[in-house]
Amino acid sequence: MKALVINCSPVRNGATAEIVRIISGELSERYDTKSICIDDYSFSFCMGCRSCHNTARCVQTDDIDLIMAEFDSADIIVSVAPSYWADIPGQFKAFIDRCTPWCNTHEPHATIKSGKKGYSVALRTGPSMRECERIIGSIEHFYGHLEIECCGSLGLCSVEYKEAVEPRKAEITDFCKNI
Ligand SMILES: Cc1cc2nc3c(=O)[nH]c(=O)nc-3n(C[C@H](O)[C@H](O)[C@H](O)COP(=O)(O)O)c2cc1C
Repeated sequence: MKALVINCSPVRNGATAEIVRIISGELSERYDTKSICIDDYSFSFCMGCRSCHNTARCVQTDDIDLIMAEFDSADIIVSVAPSYWADIPGQFKAFIDRCTPWCNTHEPHATIKSGKKGYSVALRTGPSMRECERIIGSIEHFYGHLEIECCGSLGLCSVEYKEAVEPRKAEITDFCKNI
């Protein structure tokens, strides 16, 4: 079984990356695990042309296909997203927009293999879990339209820099036990 852990932040060495590192370490004991960062890839914004509603393909060709190849080969997908202005970072939102060819609300649409399990982790600096829930909701909305089963989520408040992650390690490893 393959697991894909995604750093949905553009920061490669911040708090999100640290959480991705811990989750990847835990999962690699049980799964063939790969981690990626959204900023490893170069892609354009969705132009909203809706060509994909008729063709199931985007008119643009870039690294989106590389990311979707990672999705396709994974059995388990864990998206780890910080709050940027109370929602997922723009880079990850831009990726989701470009997944419209795979969205199940139109026919034809592209597909990835079925049976995938999706997990969501949100982190933020502020104290209220409600904002984490909003981020988890954004990720789970995306999973739903790609027919990835939503299997669990974790919200971590009061985290700004990676130094704040170590004291939360037990929460993160407990979460991993259910993956
Ligand atoms: C552009 C930007 C916007 C942010 N907006 C929020 C916010 O609305 N609420 C919040 O609690 N934290 C916010 N934060 C803090 C981040 O969620 C927090 O620092 C997180 O740990 C960042 O992880 P990263 O450095 O791995 O991207 C913001 C950080 C940045 C850089």
